Amino acid sequence: MAKNVAATTLFMAAVLCFSSLVSASARAPASTPARAPASAPVSNDILYVEGRVYCDTCRVQFETKLTEYMEAASVRLQCRNRTSDKITYTFEELTDSNGIYHIPVEGDHEEEICEVKLLKSSRDDCSERATRRLTGRVLITKNVGVATPIRYANSLGFMKKEPLPGCTQELQRMGFLPLD
Ligand SMILES: *[C@@H]1O[C@H](CO)[C@@H](O)[C@H](O)[C@H]1NC(C)=O
Repeated sequence: MAKNVAATTLFMAAVLCFSSLVSASARAPASTPARAPASAPVSNDILYVEGRVYCDTCRVQFETKLTEYMEAASVRLQCRNRTSDKITYTFEELTDSNGIYHIPVEGDHEEEICEVKLLKSSRDDCSERATRRLTGRVLITKNVGVATPIRYANSLGFMKKEPLPGCTQELQRMGFLPLD
């Protein structure tokens, strides 16, 4: 009888051990983290708006080979409700040495109008506001079939006071007729 009890205990222990092994291996795949980029943000809910600020060295309001990218220019992202026009999100940021800014945005703003606006130039010789390329719209939502968390905004630029000497030649190379 004592022997039987011992055997039963052993059997029970083995069953418990086996079942915990089974559940451990069954759990393993489920606990594997979801695939994410190496620089994944802490929250899955964060998107980044990325764009560039340039100095329009030819005063043509588009980028050329002579375009220079501007460090420490300030931009502001603002989202507002389409119907009420109420501002729902504001974030100001400076560009890095390549003229690039990254603005974190939490949540989904699909139903809102979000725009990046040029605020301030960091160059005295290149601070004239063009009539175009001062603001850029960007759609901030995950529902666009893009896997990365980055949403790109169009480049924005200030115009240089005096065009660079090489501009005429560069514009001709691009297929534009001489301006004079
Ligand atoms: C926008 O504003 C309207 C009116 O105040 C409101 O009913 C609606 O829910 C708002 N939309 C969003 C996406 O917050």
